[in-house]
Amino acid sequence: MLGNTYGRFFRVTTCGESYAGGFRKGLNVPKELYGGLLAIVDGVPPGLNLTAAMIQEELDKRRPGQTPLDSPRLETDRVYIFSGVMEDDLTTGAPVGLVIPNVDIEDLHIGQYREYKDMCRPGHAEYTFFKKYGEHSDWVGAGRASGRETASRVAGGAVAKAVLARMGIDVIAFISESHSIKAGPITYEKAKENYRKNDLNCPDLEVAPRMIEDILRIKDEGDTCGGVVEVIARGVPAGLGEPVFDKMSALISHGIMSIGAIKGLEFGSGFAHATMKGSESNDPMYFDADGRVRFRSNHAGGVLGGISNGEDIRIRVAVKATPTISLPQDTVDVGQGKNALLSPITRRDPSLLPRIYPVCEAMVRLSILDAIYMSQGYAAVANLDPRWGKI
Ligand SMILES: Cc1cc2nc3c(=O)[nH]c(=O)nc-3n(C[C@H](O)[C@H](O)[C@H](O)COP(=O)(O)O)c2cc1C
Repeated sequence: MLGNTYGRFFRVTTCGESYAGGFRKGLNVPKELYGGLLAIVDGVPPGLNLTAAMIQEELDKRRPGQTPLDSPRLETDRVYIFSGVMEDDLTTGAPVGLVIPNVDIEDLHIGQYREYKDMCRPGHAEYTFFKKYGEHSDWVGAGRASGRETASRVAGGAVAKAVLARMGIDVIAFISESHSIKAGPITYEKAKENYRKNDLNCPDLEVAPRMIEDILRIKDEGDTCGGVVEVIARGVPAGLGEPVFDKMSALISHGIMSIGAIKGLEFGSGFAHATMKGSESNDPMYFDADGRVRFRSNHAGGVLGGISNGEDIRIRVAVKATPTISLPQDTVDVGQGKNALLSPITRRDPSLLPRIYPVCEAMVRLSILDAIYMSQGYAAVANLDPRWGKI
């Protein structure tokens, strides 16, 4: 398997599967140390205050089993710092190693997956994994295609968060739409004020209960549904991103589109640009009182020519319905080479929205921090006249 590292300079490498620890149960490994997930974060500056509690705070947002809206899996997702942090909770500059054991590995659940071992869940990754890895494809809980994989990214993103905080950069994500029920307009300030005030993290506190009720009704029908996550990055300086293949928008797209179940992404006014006139889609510019360039609107979503323009980077992310549903669907049994009808009994999230927004926050943080390393490295040798830095 290739491609388990994200980033060029600030890099996160992840490994671990959904139920990997289950394979080690016979080896007298204490339950607290069952397999699970690892993240190695490379490029962490020295002297950064970093504690397991800081990383845990991010992981707890993504942890399942907290509300009726998410999977009843009971993973504690407890993180341990393995390396890169010395006495007084300060980083040394060495790779930060993070370990997240998985203590919710029960024979019952592994048995359920064994029963469906050769059945491909429509909408899930089994078919393409069989094509690629054949008989050795991990059949327990989707392996690397499991949403559980994203815990490592969230852990890596928490380290990025600590670095970005020193630079005054804040990334926040929230739910703005669920199964066609839309929240009203959400500003950065409103998203901050109402952050995580309901199980869905929808800052429109009036619309959120309707969304939640709708998800629970769909869950009772044995079905699932999707929606929209929005992410705002505030405090991002102008000048990040490279103009050709490594545009700021391309780096963020890479990060976001690498999350399972994400099917679409738009920056600023996104697809609406296709219907706008130039006079509508252009963001008019002006010098503010400090002599800095600002924009009167943000249809661009904070990126121009692939380079951040100093306004909020704002994206909307389309999340599909959870593939595992209880309703019977046509599929194939690749072991027996015949058609089949499947209605899985394994655990799942009725909506991925409440657990996927922290993953979006993590990937945007990682993309921005990596772009900072790239831009600062270039700037250090480019010898640009300082007056350009002032506008
Ligand atoms: C945080 C998170 C949790 C997820 N939980 C589930 C789940 O409980 N059941 C399920 O069928 N898919 C779940 N998924 C979605 C699958 O991982 C994803 O749909 C699958 O890998 C196929 O990839 P694709 O949808 O990008 O094509 C989850 C994804 C994320 C990011």
